Amino acid sequence: MPRVIAITSGKGGVGKSNFVLNVGIALGMMDNRVQLFDADLGLANLDVLMGLRPARTLEDVVLGKCSIEEIILKTDYGVELIPGSSGVEDMADLPREQIAGLIKQISKVSKDIDFILVDTASGISSTVLSFLLGVPEVIVGVAPEPTSLTDAYAMIKVLTRNGFNGRVSVFPSMVKNSTKARNLYRKISSAAQRFLDMKVDYAGYVCVDEKLPQAVADQVPAIVRFPTSEVARCYMMIASTLLSQEAGSPDMERFWSRLIQMIIKRPKRKVHSDVSLGGENRVRSLEIALRDMLEEQRKTRILLERLVTRMEQTSEELIPKKGPVV
Ligand SMILES: Nc1ncnc2c1ncn2[C@@H]1O[C@H](COP(=O)(O)OP(=O)(O)O)[C@@H](O)[C@H]1O
Ligand SMILES: [Mg+2]
Repeated sequence: MPRVIAITSGKGGVGKSNFVLNVGIALGMMDNRVQLFDADLGLANLDVLMGLRPARTLEDVVLGKCSIEEIILKTDYGVELIPGSSGVEDMADLPREQIAGLIKQISKVSKDIDFILVDTASGISSTVLSFLLGVPEVIVGVAPEPTSLTDAYAMIKVLTRNGFNGRVSVFPSMVKNSTKARNLYRKISSAAQRFLDMKVDYAGYVCVDEKLPQAVADQVPAIVRFPTSEVARCYMMIASTLLSQEAGSPDMERFWSRLIQMIIKRPKRKVHSDVSLGGENRVRSLEIALRDMLEEQRKTRILLERLVTRMEQTSEELIPKKGPVV
């Protein structure tokens, strides 16, 4: 039975996808069979971080265009990647029996797996929330900015208020050192304990390291590209921490069913107004929607930057270097 862990955050850009990728690879290096599930339905994600271009996604499986085995990518890094969805077609009207058949088919591929790490979209949309409520373990990323702290706390609050009873952990991301990370964790865990009566675990931290954006630009996972870097060490530590924890027992049928529902029911545009965050909900949902738009813009920028770099490299190869004038 695999251990299913979903990684999420209140806002985008905290280092979630890199966490899933690098911690997944670290777990693989420690002799675990690992599947990474990309359920963040934005532009570019786990595939781009590994320089892959999946031809098909879970959406094709749901639409009956191919089998689940056909979409699983065996990567060079000892982990398997299941691409979530590229988000083009509307699948709202899939019959119930078809969904049930699908779940049966899909459950087979995780039979011999030790870890499934799911990269979810950031923000508290109702579809992501209902998916998270069906997983036994959720890890919330938090960056050292006040807004990120509030967002992470809001995420834990929404989970708790909706009856989540699995393990919630926090990973401070892009922090200077372990002391700063611990402080960040303590702030969240004590607020959660005090106001929500919720125990929040510490998953370890990811330090801020310039090697990480370099690895992202090279489209090679940081733990492979820079194995001796500080950030690689952080990911290894997190993998060890996960291995030292007691595993929850997931209801795999419920997991796959909610995952499929999340993909099927995904609105064309993310809607946040259906989740109440106490009194501040209207302003906050606008704020979150705005942040999502900025996040999409950021991803587009990364893609464009990469394209420009490629073009520069190509033109450098084409134009002969100036030699000494003779
Ligand atoms: N530990 C880190 N150190 C430095 N920069 C980081 C770190 N983690 C993330 N980043 C930066 O943030 C960007 C977004 O990271 P990503 O993992 O895609 O976040 P998310 O999935 O939460 O949106 C990366 O491309 C990188 O530039
Ligand atoms: Mg991401």
